[in-house]
Amino acid sequence: MQVEATTAGPLDSGADTIVVGVFDGEDVAHDLPGGALGALLASGEAQRKFKHLAVTHSGGARAILIGLGDRGKFDGERAREAAAVAHRRAREIGATSVCWEVPHHVGDDVVEGLVQGTLLHAYRFDRYKPGSSDDARDRQVQSLVLSAHHDVSDPVRTATILTTAQNRARDLGNTPANDLPPSALADYAKELAGRLGIEATVLGETAIREAGMGAFAAVAQGSHEQAWLIRLEYNGAGNSGGDPLLALVGKAVTFDSGGISLKPAGTMHEMKFDMCGGAAVIEAVAALAELKAPVHVLGLIGATENLPSGAAVKPGDIIRALDGTTVEVNNTDAEGRLVLADCISYARREGAQRLVDVATLTGGIVVALGSTYAGLMSNDDDWAARVEESAGRTGELVWRMPLHHDYAEMIKGRYGQIVNSTTKREATALTAGEFLHHFAGDVPWVHLDIAGTAWDVRRSYFADKGATGYGVRLLVDVARQSSSEPG
Ligand code: BES
Ligand code: ZN
Ligand code: ZN
Repeated sequence: MQVEATTAGPLDSGADTIVVGVFDGEDVAHDLPGGALGALLASGEAQRKFKHLAVTHSGGARAILIGLGDRGKFDGERAREAAAVAHRRAREIGATSVCWEVPHHVGDDVVEGLVQGTLLHAYRFDRYKPGSSDDARDRQVQSLVLSAHHDVSDPVRTATILTTAQNRARDLGNTPANDLPPSALADYAKELAGRLGIEATVLGETAIREAGMGAFAAVAQGSHEQAWLIRLEYNGAGNSGGDPLLALVGKAVTFDSGGISLKPAGTMHEMKFDMCGGAAVIEAVAALAELKAPVHVLGLIGATENLPSGAAVKPGDIIRALDGTTVEVNNTDAEGRLVLADCISYARREGAQRLVDVATLTGGIVVALGSTYAGLMSNDDDWAARVEESAGRTGELVWRMPLHHDYAEMIKGRYGQIVNSTTKREATALTAGEFLHHFAGDVPWVHLDIAGTAWDVRRSYFADKGATGYGVRLLVDVARQSSSEPG
């Protein structure tokens, strides 16, 4: 979709459909010729309550009038929702170009939300469906204009870049594992990086093993597909050079069967989504480059399959991680933490002074938080607070969960130093957090468990169920803030 800003009025934007919002206790700021919008409200056909819709025509123009509810409550998230329902109606009535009249006296968060809600709702993953022809595409909304009295081109451009990156992350997540093995993800990342001036280097499975990443290699050894460690470095012009180096670490298990500790068949197909953390890191680094953000970030993505075979790691095997820790692999389905452990150690060796890891790590976090919040665990209150602030700003919500030495006790090993899985199914998200904590040590680190937020989220703007691209907007905000505030 083409997205642009204008200071011309909606009727002069050339769009075939305009969208006008109205808050509780207010009237429309600019009516159509003949007062059609006011009349629609007066008749009761249009209402001011949040997300209520009505359509009218006047003087050759077509308008969707949408209730925005309480002005005081109208934030970025409500803007995303309003834009999503307006886009749904626009598509139903055959609109191909839409102009949103930006409400008066709102912030950039609302302008960004209107763009995001439209682009997220318009997203479809139909690559594998015959019949999603060019013809159908012609009848989709192809252009979006944001009309405001003041220049909103900056927030419109930012939101377009971010949401396009988020939708690319959704494509990666939705692509089935047969078409997105680790090598394809590595090729994709290299190609994207090449286009955006990001430095990309990749380590294949032999190099991973030879470098001493025995935990990562143990997960990879059961599959015929090569594992890849993808390293992306973006060093934007204008960064002070004095900021602590931020590393973003993503779990990209392109398919998680559980390995020898095989998962039940019922929902195993969903484990094509087990690379969504890695996808979020790739697309966040890409978006930072597209935004020309003055930041220096390192993206590390651990890409592998987790499959059973005669060569697979077995329950009871003891492996040596990059930092020398010996790990008893008591459950081969707790593979994400093994991959991340070595990626985190690698990031520390590369000089990372701030860490955020993103991973679909545990079913336990889904039980605890559903799909509303990602679980956040951290060894550093200030760093955690920064990420929580970014979550509040972007609407990609997090809820802090505890670390505790009791949980650390639970992963102490009998034959090796630590185990990757406890026997009791207690606090699984938190013992997973403590496992990663062991490798992060005292480097300020945040762990985001996105197992609940990465796909199948009930939100009006996720009309296409499946991958959400959760984390792209959040990580970009974290990176931009951490370079602009004192450490
Ligand atoms: N990828 C899964 C976590 C997962 C489960 C994500 C369901 C989304 C939905 C992860 O690798 C895993 O299998 N975790 C196990 C850990 C357990 C064996 C300690 C889990 O959570 O059951
Ligand atoms: Zn698993
Ligand atoms: Zn997994």
